[in-house]
Amino acid sequence: MGRKTHESIGKVLQDRVNIVISRKSDNSENKLYESALSLADALKIAKFWSCDGECFIIGGAEIYKQALRMKLVHRLYITEIYRDFDGDAFFDIDYVKSNYDLMHTESHTSKTGVNYSFGVYE
Ligand SMILES: NC(=O)c1ccc[n+]([C@@H]2O[C@H](COP(=O)([O-])OP(=O)(O)OC[C@H]3O[C@@H](n4cnc5c(N)ncnc54)[C@H](OP(=O)(O)O)[C@@H]3O)[C@@H](O)[C@H]2O)c1
Repeated sequence: MGRKTHESIGKVLQDRVNIVISRKSDNSENKLYESALSLADALKIAKFWSCDGECFIIGGAEIYKQALRMKLVHRLYITEIYRDFDGDAFFDIDYVKSNYDLMHTESHTSKTGVNYSFGVYE
């Protein structure tokens, strides 16, 4: 994940190796995550730790954009929420729909009445 995503989560995600990407070296003591200086560096660390061969790129926008451009992504798990929200980080869903196949989809409605779908693309 990108440094900004890590900061927005505010803690490490449990039961998995967290790899935080930043262009600045992170020399924090007793940190509960791995630090990477580039996406390529992060993938090397992920390969080192990964038991089942699958690693997840969890954003944010900058990291998703680069991962797609570098063609590092083999499968995408995407939730689309059918309501407009204000925001300052964006994801190019049209690129995914043009370049990947939809393998699975399910539609749902949240308890508050918002329609959303969950899709897997490869
Ligand atoms: N809906 C979702 O699936 C989802 C998932 C994750 C995050 N988010 C949201 O997205 C927002 C954050 O996205 P964002 O695009 O602003 O930030 P981001 O991608 O999380 O992090 C950007 C930071 O990552 C580092 N970075 C990016 N590319 C790098 C590279 N090639 N080499 C080394 N470091 C690199 C830089 O850190 P330094 O500045 O430290 O160098 C950069 O400032 C948050 O609001 C978060 O809540 C949404």
